Amino acid sequence: MPPRGGCCCWRPWRVAIAIGAASALTGYLSYKDLYCRFAECCREKQPLNASALKLELEEKLFGQHLATEVILKALTGFRNNPNPKKPLTLFLHGWAGTGKNFVSQIVAENLHSKGLKSNFVHLFVSTLHFPHEQQIKLYQDQLQTWIRGNVSACASSMFIFDEMDKLHLGIIDAIKPFLDYYEQVDGVSYQKAIFIFLSNAGGDLITKTALDFWRAGRKREDIQLKDLEHVLSVRVFNNKHSGLWHSGLIDRNLIDYFIPFLPLEYTHVKECVRAEMRARGSTVDEDIVTRVAEEMTFFPKDEKIYSDKGCKTVQSWLDFH
Ligand SMILES: *[C@@H]1O[C@H](CO)[C@@H](O)[C@H](O)[C@H]1NC(C)=O
Repeated sequence: MPPRGGCCCWRPWRVAIAIGAASALTGYLSYKDLYCRFAECCREKQPLNASALKLELEEKLFGQHLATEVILKALTGFRNNPNPKKPLTLFLHGWAGTGKNFVSQIVAENLHSKGLKSNFVHLFVSTLHFPHEQQIKLYQDQLQTWIRGNVSACASSMFIFDEMDKLHLGIIDAIKPFLDYYEQVDGVSYQKAIFIFLSNAGGDLITKTALDFWRAGRKREDIQLKDLEHVLSVRVFNNKHSGLWHSGLIDRNLIDYFIPFLPLEYTHVKECVRAEMRARGSTVDEDIVTRVAEEMTFFPKDEKIYSDKGCKTVQSWLDFH
C-alpha cells in the first residue's frame, strides 16, 4: 500500500471532484483561471516565490553577493507589503557585462512568467527608444501615456530603463511623478509598479573598491554595501555635473535601493561559460570553458584580475569555439 497523505496519493478522480466542487462554488474564478491559462493575465496579488528567486539568482548570477542579497530583500519586502507607499525603484549600476540586464530579466520572469516578452514588462533603452534630443517633448508625452496606460491595465507593471547614464534629463523628469509617494496621479495608483534603472555610471569606482579589497588580501565577499555607498554617493551622485543629481531622482529619495555590480573575475567568467553551455543543452567541456575564458581581456594591466567586458562576450566566443 502506498503511504498516505503525500502527493503520491492523489488520484485523477479526486482531482476531478475537487475541480468540479471548486467551479460549482466559484464559477467566475474557474473561468478566469481557464482564461489565464491561454492568455496572459496580470497577477498583481500573486505572492512572489522568494525561494525560487533566491535559487535562480544563486545558480545563474555569478560573483554578485551584494546584488543577490539586496534584490531578494527588496522584492520580497515589496511584494509582501499589501499597501506600498510608492512604487519599488531599483537602481542597478556597475561595469558592462556584470549581470544588470540579466538580473532584470530574472526579476521580470519571477513577477510575470513571460518575462521580457510579457505585456506587463516594458524595456526602454535610451539610445534605441529616445535617441533624438529634438524629440524630447514627443518622448516625454509618449512615455507618460504609456506608463499611465499600462499601469491602469496592470498595477504590477514593470518598467526597465537601460542606459540611464545616457538618458536625457527631460525624460527622467517625465518619469519622476510616477515614482513619488502619491496615492494617485490623475486617478491612477502607481504604488504597485516596479521601476528598474540600469547604469554603467560608477563602474570605475566600484572596481576601485573591489581592487582595494583584493590588494589588501581581503575576500571579495566581505565587501559590504557600506564600503561602496560612501564612494558612490559622494563621488558619482553628489557630483553636481552628473545628470542624475540634477534630475532630482537621487536627492528626493525616489530610488529605494542602489545596487552595485562588482567587476567579474576569471572564475566568474568560467562559471558564465558553463552556465551558457548548460543552457544550450550541451555537456560542459572544461577545455572549452578554459579556452573561452582565456579569450577575455583582464585588467588592471599588471594583475589582470577583472574581465573588461564581464561575461558579455561569452556567448559569441562560445559560438566561435
Ligand atoms: C504600454 O507600453 C507600450 C510600450 O512598452 C506601448 O506600446 C503601449 O501603447 C502601452 N499601452 C498603453 C495602454 O498605454
